[in-house]
Amino acid sequence: MKKIVIFASGSGSNAEKIIAHFKHSDQAKVVKVFSNNPKAKVLERAANHELPAEVFTREDLNNGTVLQKINTIQPDLIVLAGFLLKFPEDIIAMYPQKIINIHPALLPKYGGKGMYGENVHKAVLENKERETGITIHYVNEQYDEGGIIFQKAVSVEECTTPEEIAEKVHQLEHEHFPKVIEQLISKS
Ligand code: GAR
Repeated sequence: MKKIVIFASGSGSNAEKIIAHFKHSDQAKVVKVFSNNPKAKVLERAANHELPAEVFTREDLNNGTVLQKINTIQPDLIVLAGFLLKFPEDIIAMYPQKIINIHPALLPKYGGKGMYGENVHKAVLENKERETGITIHYVNEQYDEGGIIFQKAVSVEECTTPEEIAEKVHQLEHEHFPKVIEQLISKS
């Protein structure tokens, strides 16, 4: 059985879709959720699925504590699902091509530091983009610059608020992220 761990900082709607998708799989399972935010709703969602969850600090992330915790699990895939801190180089070096992130836009557009969640959707609206979408990519040392695994576009021509765009993007994420993970896992 392949092991997936999830890192999330907020609501965790993607995390929950992934947990549910693999709940009855004989190929892979989500074994743990990590969060840097003690108030994140993702912790509640993990508990509802009787899944272990652990909160860590930014210091833990950057001083090797989180790496040690990951090493005790030996995951086959590390999934960043709405994780908002920069992922440290020691973990990236130890798990090459085994860490993936979802970004709520069509990278390389609307990527980089500060471009997360609502900020992305506001920028898309301000620039009067006709479409946006999702990007699933490997994580490397630069924000949002690792190799692209999957992209899907959606029209936002009729959206008038960032919330409307967010809803469309979330729908795409929920539909595709678990499937893309399943494909990656089956090849690993
Ligand atoms: C998702 O839209 C994800 O793409 C985005 O945060 C949201 C988390 O939603 N991630 C980033 O912006 C990373 N740069 P969720 O907590 O409901 O899954």
